[in-house]
Amino acid sequence: MKIKDLQIQGKTFLAPLAGITNLPFRLLVKECGCSVVSSEMVSAKGFFYNSEKTMRLISSKNEEQPLSIQIFGSEAELMADFANAIQDMKAAGIIDINFGCSVKKVIKQGAGVALMKQPELAGMILSSIRKAIDLPLTIKIRSGWDPSGQDAFRIAQIAQDAGVDAVILHPRTAGQGFKGKADWNLIKELKQRLSIPVIGNGDITCVEDARRMMSVTGCDAVMVGRAALSNPFIFSQIDSFLETGRYEVPSRQQILGAMVRLTHTYIDFFGEEPACRMLRGRLSWFVKGIPGCSSFRKRLSAIESGNHALSLIKEFETPAD
Ligand SMILES: Cc1cc2nc3c(=O)[nH]c(=O)nc-3n(C[C@H](O)[C@H](O)[C@H](O)COP(=O)(O)O)c2cc1C
Repeated sequence: MKIKDLQIQGKTFLAPLAGITNLPFRLLVKECGCSVVSSEMVSAKGFFYNSEKTMRLISSKNEEQPLSIQIFGSEAELMADFANAIQDMKAAGIIDINFGCSVKKVIKQGAGVALMKQPELAGMILSSIRKAIDLPLTIKIRSGWDPSGQDAFRIAQIAQDAGVDAVILHPRTAGQGFKGKADWNLIKELKQRLSIPVIGNGDITCVEDARRMMSVTGCDAVMVGRAALSNPFIFSQIDSFLETGRYEVPSRQQILGAMVRLTHTYIDFFGEEPACRMLRGRLSWFVKGIPGCSSFRKRLSAIESGNHALSLIKEFETPAD
């Protein structure tokens, strides 16, 4: 699959997840075979005000490219300037625009899913960004404000006409948040309407779901969010399953190895104390379902230092009888 002139190896995208898809997590997921990793949404206003947080959110490494950096905002000029600066910094391989966030604070600013109610403004924003960058440009949308999908079809068409290179659809309405089920029929219909690639997202909980989404909807690739938190290996598993009908389940050793690498990259990126605070919750996601995990999780929730985390992981290498 190609997005503009960017050849994508494989069919898997990591979904943008605020507070989660930071550089250390992206590096891990990339190592686990993900084709395209995504930053969390980053505010165009934050860039305008030269916020330190914004600069941290857009810092990247070569090993994770092509990284998709997701911008949110509602002001065409600010968003275009921000996209252009990211391109100049060579921080990303793709720029993605958020049309899906349904958090009140974001909607209040007229950003995220609020833009799906404003087709004219949406068109203006996308044309401005298109003019400002040569990088591949994508948008991530929801179904819209009602379950029919009409908002999604309209915005996606506007995007295609404005020169956007691919559309990611999470087919839940603005009001649904993450409740109910994603309506994959809307991904199928969108794919039939557009000539640019469509990436399907929503409720892929396992490898088999990814293949089912691709065969039911005809989408060009799949985007996985929440399922990657407990299984970062899902990306190579999906590609393997699509190609051969088989995939490997990671061994205890492989899972613990991933936890060790994440511990090191968290400490390098955030510094030891903040990293340890975050790792208390983060590391425990990986061991879901492994025998003995509940007492291990308790111990992880009290991590005090990098060495403490590493020694707890080491201890867990040998299964208790
Ligand atoms: C904690 C969390 C944070 C999220 N942050 C973002 C975000 O920054 N940008 C975005 O477009 N979507 C965001 N989403 C939505 C996801 O990208 C994705 O569309 C949604 O989780 C459905 O995919 P899944 O079923 O594979 O998790 C977030 C979702 C969650 C659960």
